[in-house]
Amino acid sequence: MVQTKLTENIHWVGVVDWNIRDFHGYITHRGTTYNAYLISDEKTALVDTVKHAFSNELLRNICEIVDPAKIDYIIVNHVEMDHSSSLPVIVKHAKNATIIASQRGKDAIIEHYGADFKIQSVKTGDELKLGKRTLRFVEAPMLHWPDSMFTYVVEDKILMPNDAFGQHLATSERFDDEIDEHVLMEEAKTYYANILMLFAPLITRKIQEVVQMGIPIAMIAPSHGIIWRSDPSKIIKAYLDWSAGVSKNKVVIVYDTMWGSTDKMARAIAEGVASQEVDVKLLKLRAAGLTEVVTEILDAKAVVVGSPTLNNGMFPTLGSFLTYAMGLKPKGKLWSFFGSYGWGGGAVKSMMEMARKASFEVHEPSIEVKYIPKQEDLKKCFELGQQIAAKIKA
Ligand code: FEO
Repeated sequence: MVQTKLTENIHWVGVVDWNIRDFHGYITHRGTTYNAYLISDEKTALVDTVKHAFSNELLRNICEIVDPAKIDYIIVNHVEMDHSSSLPVIVKHAKNATIIASQRGKDAIIEHYGADFKIQSVKTGDELKLGKRTLRFVEAPMLHWPDSMFTYVVEDKILMPNDAFGQHLATSERFDDEIDEHVLMEEAKTYYANILMLFAPLITRKIQEVVQMGIPIAMIAPSHGIIWRSDPSKIIKAYLDWSAGVSKNKVVIVYDTMWGSTDKMARAIAEGVASQEVDVKLLKLRAAGLTEVVTEILDAKAVVVGSPTLNNGMFPTLGSFLTYAMGLKPKGKLWSFFGSYGWGGGAVKSMMEMARKASFEVHEPSIEVKYIPKQEDLKKCFELGQQIAAKIKA
């Protein structure tokens, strides 16, 4: 393996999961990485481990730098299994290591892997001296789980925030200045939208807290994807914007269709939006999938949702979409609904009920068409697109 150094004596020892395409439902079409970092000083510390299937690769990477028996500390920033499930394997080789985690991390390690470990809990502001280097810990509950924390290497000014600022992106390069910026920001956005959007208020507060601590950040080394070293402020600024709900004059039309009627309506609405020079994305759920749809919604001002009626209710893909969107709580969007039916109808009503339950701002009236939309129906759809565009531009 070619050794990757963040600085002298801080190595990336993680693994690249090139072939994962479904990360607990999140479609990772560019794979991912599980990043772990080895800090060699008078004491040796391993920051995070990797998914269990790759534990031997992690061990091999460590062995190229140091005998694992010499590891003094294993920092567990987060107990979700993509980062901790190699812990039992590593501990067998690092017999003298003390595990460092937040109190909730300590509890979660015991609940996942048993109580057979030497674990020391830390809280915000606690420091661990490794020799020339100092590790400072910052608890970061819900970024991504209650146990999550950040580790900051004081002398090197490197923040290791685990899931925060990550991307599901498998590459042979490790640093932001080595890869296409557009791809990097696209994956960072997809990751934020699908993993962290729900926690937007906490993200804003946590970033403000770190800024108030006055700690300089030369590098952000997350647990997934690329390390931000050329300009870490770029991803911090993006997170501040995303968590504040900064959005564009953009409408996302999310729909599904059985015999093409809802598709015709969706296209007419899209034309109405575009006629007002507002950006529009038309996404059929069985073609685009939830991961892409939610990413597009992140910076849109309006979401227009369409469904045919099936069994007196919405098409199942729309139920799945609305459940996912309600869970992620996208901020400040205008929602509108349309659909088609054969005899009884029901899709639009049930979608609107879900939206109201989630306290989404709902535009009225909705449009529901019997069987196949006629010219006057498509005109109404076009006008709906115009109205939505005008509303978000106002
Ligand atoms: Fe990458 Fe929440 O684990």
